[in-house]
Amino acid sequence: MSKSVSESVKNPYIPNLAEIIKIKSETPDTSTFRIKISNGSEFKFQPGQFIELTVFGYGEAPISISGGTTSKDSFEITVRKMGEVTSALFRLQEGKKVGIRGPFGHGWPLDVMKRKNVLLIGGGIGLAPLRPLIQEILRNRKDFERVILMYGARTPKDILFKDEFPLWSKKMEVYRTVDKGEPGWDETVGVVTVLFDEFEVYPEETIAVQCGPPIMMYFVTKKLKELGFPDENIYVSLERRMECGMGICGRCSIGGIYVCKDGPVFSYSTIKGLLERAI
Ligand SMILES: Cc1cc2nc3c(=O)[nH]c(=O)nc-3n(C[C@H](O)[C@H](O)[C@H](O)COP(=O)(O)OP(=O)(O)OC[C@H]3O[C@@H](n4cnc5c(N)ncnc54)[C@H](O)[C@@H]3O)c2cc1C
Ligand code: FES
Repeated sequence: MSKSVSESVKNPYIPNLAEIIKIKSETPDTSTFRIKISNGSEFKFQPGQFIELTVFGYGEAPISISGGTTSKDSFEITVRKMGEVTSALFRLQEGKKVGIRGPFGHGWPLDVMKRKNVLLIGGGIGLAPLRPLIQEILRNRKDFERVILMYGARTPKDILFKDEFPLWSKKMEVYRTVDKGEPGWDETVGVVTVLFDEFEVYPEETIAVQCGPPIMMYFVTKKLKELGFPDENIYVSLERRMECGMGICGRCSIGGIYVCKDGPVFSYSTIKGLLERAI
C-alpha cells in the first residue's frame, strides 16, 4: 500500500527531538550547550550555519552552531540569555529535551580561504559562529597561510571560550580588546577596530570574515575598505529576526535577499549597500 502524504513527506516545521548532554557556563549571561539528536542520527553542518532551536512551551530561536565538527551525532551552541526562549533554555538542565530544525543557510567560504591569509573578526557573541571555523582551520592548519583572530568583548568577564585561547594563540595570531578594562587586564582596551593598529595586513592576499553586532560590522567593513580589501575578500554573517529559517516566510528579507537561505554568511560584494540597512 502506498504511503499517505503525511507519512511520506516530513513537515519541515516539525523539529527533531534532541537532548542537552552538557552545559558549560562561559560568561555571566552566556553558556555553551552540547546537543545530541535523540534518534541517534548523524548531524552534519558547515561552520557558519545555524539551527532553529525549540524550547518546548516557549518557542523557537535561530542560533549559530558554535562547535562540534568532529562529532557525528552532537554539536554545540553558545547562547546569550536575551528574552523568552533563551531564558527558558537557561532554566533547563543536562538531560532535558529540546527541538532542533536545520542546519540552515550557507556557512563560511572555506574553499575561498584555502592557501590564503585569513583574518577572523569577532565581537561579543559573534565569536560563536566563528568557533567551528577556527576549529576547522586549526585541524587543517597547513591548508591556510597566516591566520589572525581579532576579538572584542564588553569586559574581560564577557570573553567567550576563555580556556581555548591559549591553544588558539599557539596556532594563530590572536589580538583581543575589551570596551572596559579592569585590574589584571593587560591587553588592549577600546573597540575592535583599534586592533587594526597592532599588525600589518595584505588585503589582496587576505580573506576577512566577521561576525558581531551590526554596528561593529559596519565600522570593521569601512576600515577593511580603507585598508584596500577588495569587496570579494570580505565576508559578513548577518543576523535578522527569523521565523521559518528556510526561505519560506520572508521574515528575514533585506532588499530581496533572505538572510536565512541566502546567508547568513554573505560576501560583501553581494550585500554591498544592504549592510547599512541591516544595522
Ligand atoms: C542566524 C542567527 C544566528 C544567531 N546565533 C546566535 C547565537 O549563536 N547565540 C545567541 O545567543 N544568539 C544568536 N542569535 C540571536 C538569537 O536568535 C536571539 O537572541 C533570540 O532569538 C532571542 O530570542 P528570545 O526569545 O530569547 O528573545 P526575544 O524575547 O525574542 O528578544 C529579546 C531581545 O532580543 C532582540 N532580538 C531577538 N532576536 C534578535 C535578532 N535576530 N537580532 C537582533 N535582535 C534580536 C529583541 O528585539 C529583544 O530586544 C542568532 C540570530 C540569528 C538570526
Ligand atoms: S526566516 Fe523565513 S524566509 Fe527567512
